[in-house]
Amino acid sequence: DGLDVAALEAVAVDVARAAGRLVVDERPDDLGMSEKSSRTDVVTEMDQRSQELVLDLLAQRRPDDAAMGEEEGGRTGTSGVTWVVDPIDGTTNYLYSVPAYAVSVAAVVGDPAVPGAWRAVAGAVFNPATDELFHAHRGGGARLTARTGTTVLRVSTETDLALSLVGTGFGYAAATRARQARILVDLLPQVRDIRRAGSAALDLCAVACGRLDGYYESGLNVWDRAAGELVALEAGAVLGGLDGDVADRDLTWTAGPGLAPVFAGLVRDLTRTHLGGPAQG
Ligand code: IPD
Repeated sequence: DGLDVAALEAVAVDVARAAGRLVVDERPDDLGMSEKSSRTDVVTEMDQRSQELVLDLLAQRRPDDAAMGEEEGGRTGTSGVTWVVDPIDGTTNYLYSVPAYAVSVAAVVGDPAVPGAWRAVAGAVFNPATDELFHAHRGGGARLTARTGTTVLRVSTETDLALSLVGTGFGYAAATRARQARILVDLLPQVRDIRRAGSAALDLCAVACGRLDGYYESGLNVWDRAAGELVALEAGAVLGGLDGDVADRDLTWTAGPGLAPVFAGLVRDLTRTHLGGPAQG
């Protein structure tokens, strides 16, 4: 399609880094004793500032592209590329200074508002608390750039569900959480252990680098997963949704190819059994 996806990756990397530094460097000292009406307000303010910076930088470097994010303030474009931005994925971790939050920036083609009608071609997920940057472009492999240098990522070769470390996450609505808890009750006895790290973008990258053997979650938004999905796929992961090989709002699952058939079968079954209709975020 004539796109220079390596150049798009370089843009994603630069803007994710810049916004990640902002959320750390400009974090208010008094998050917990803020004059704002609630702590969440303060986090929302940093989410907005991060997204504004990302969108400003993208407008300078890619003026013809569209952009959308978790916060208000996207724009339309003419190039066919849309930037999909989560300005702070892992908001609760950010609030508590748990070092597992990230700025997620993806370039996608197609319509990111329509499930299955888009695909990411480049992306970056930057965790400023650990200085880890996960990045990829379509067909180019996935990489982790950390203080110690850059490494090419590969998913784990685990094949045995009982030996697998599995990540997941939960939505914000109580009704959704009750169903997700029932899925966990059935899953936990069948796997090595479960992790709930608190950032879907970082969970997808954790599968890419073998820190998790598999990951699943229902109710994800496109900005939570666009960049991380590409990183996982480019590291050799298999990925899908409730039915096909495209993640959807009901279910996103990913695992290495050895584990994927059994893992997908199980999390699809459990999701169908317990989720009972579309997830509610
Ligand atoms: C959330 C995180 C969390 C996941 C939730 C997401 P946010 O994103 O990715 O890990 O379980 O589903 O909403 O709200 O921190 O940007």
